[in-house]
Amino acid sequence: MAGLFITFEGGDGSGKSTQAGLLSAWLTDAGHTVVRSREPGGTDLGVELREIVLHRKGHIAPRAEALIYAADRAHNIATRVRPAVERGEIVIQDRYLDSSVAYQGAGRVLDPKEVRDISLWATEGFMPDLTILLDLDETIGRERLDEARTKYDRLEAEEHDFHARVRAGYLALAQAEPDRFLVLSATDSIETIAAAVRARVNPLLAG
Ligand code: ADP
Ligand code: TYD
Repeated sequence: MAGLFITFEGGDGSGKSTQAGLLSAWLTDAGHTVVRSREPGGTDLGVELREIVLHRKGHIAPRAEALIYAADRAHNIATRVRPAVERGEIVIQDRYLDSSVAYQGAGRVLDPKEVRDISLWATEGFMPDLTILLDLDETIGRERLDEARTKYDRLEAEEHDFHARVRAGYLALAQAEPDRFLVLSATDSIETIAAAVRARVNPLLAG
């Protein structure tokens, strides 16, 4: 039996890792084998690429940046995610190709469709069974991050308008693929969101 690939998307500070952790714990308690992953940085190679793409000082050309995310993704899917799903395991991942479309497309320099096509090539078209979008006003996401840390990576440091475009990009993606996406308001309580996620995931487990 094939497993499941579930991704969490949303702006910085929207609660992705909180919810990914709660869903993993719930599934593990129910006896499923769960693999946690994230992009960028789900593999050893990915950790090195993550350091470059998020923390390297100096300009990275937009197409180079998009290709680094795609390289991280190609290696993560080929070596970790696809094999786990083929073994029947459940992979829960923070961010996937929708992040590339929303963030790299939001810079207005790259065409969102081309960004998506690069990721589809990189992963041989591997798509999530379910994507949970935690939709959050970018100002609130920023406030949450401000409380949690003092240092920002390259994208977190972008302007307010950039993050507003990221949010709009995500909502457009969810609208285009309503069957794959579950959109939840990230300002609901952690438990309310977790319950909605469980309700959506539960019927997938039977199949
Ligand atoms: P992300 O992985 O999307 O960056 P996190 O899960 O790390 O987000 O959460 C960012 C911060 O917001 C953390 O301090 C977390 O405890 C808090 N947080 C997460 N979910 C909620 C929520 N529903 N309401 C209020 N605060 C939240
Ligand atoms: P993330 O690991 O979620 O950040 P943190 O753990 O600090 O909350 O993501 C790091 C950043 O990478 C985030 O700002 C969004 C960006 N990103 C892209 O721009 N494109 C991508 O394809 C991915 C996967 C992430």
